Amino acid sequence: MELKNKNKSLVAYFSAMGNTAEIAKMIAELTGADLFEIKPVKPYTREDLNFREPTSRCCKEHDNPKARPEIVEPMPDCGKYDKIYLGFPSWWAEAPRIILTFLEKTKGLEGKTIIPFVSSHSSPLGQHGTLLHPFAPKANWQAGVRFKLTPPKQDVEAWLKTIK
Ligand SMILES: Cc1cc2nc3c(=O)[nH]c(=O)nc-3n(C[C@H](O)[C@H](O)[C@H](O)COP(=O)(O)O)c2cc1C
Repeated sequence: MELKNKNKSLVAYFSAMGNTAEIAKMIAELTGADLFEIKPVKPYTREDLNFREPTSRCCKEHDNPKARPEIVEPMPDCGKYDKIYLGFPSWWAEAPRIILTFLEKTKGLEGKTIIPFVSSHSSPLGQHGTLLHPFAPKANWQAGVRFKLTPPKQDVEAWLKTIK
């Protein structure tokens, strides 16, 4: 099956430690999609990512449903894409809050197909995708996929072949 099609897709991803970034690059390479890194204005340090420390940045953001970490501009205009692959790590079996910033600030998501892809240590896909639907209610959400950390390229390719 031909994975590269003439309608442009976008791979938009956030990755704090590099695993999601690897998957995003594989998807872009295999599909010919454009790549956009959802880059925090304030990068996450090791201390920020310490989920065992209740006062760390990641814990504070997790505890605050209104937290919206800022993203380095410019944001992509999704109007020109049909399909958006949206990648992020699993944080407490949910998307990090910066993904909500992305969904709320990005223009042109109405009617677009959004396909979540998640990198996690052990959490399954679960509600990672569905919890995001209210933040882009007019998009056409697909179920998406969860990979363990950075999977082999063949696994990513096999998954892409299942997408219509
Ligand atoms: C704050 C935080 C919370 C995490 N929560 C989970 C979790 O609930 N389930 C899980 O399987 N992995 C969890 N992990 C592990 C990451 O999802 C995993 O290492 C992922 O590959 C990181 O992707 P990245 O390298 O793109 O940042 C967590 C990691 C961090 C830093």
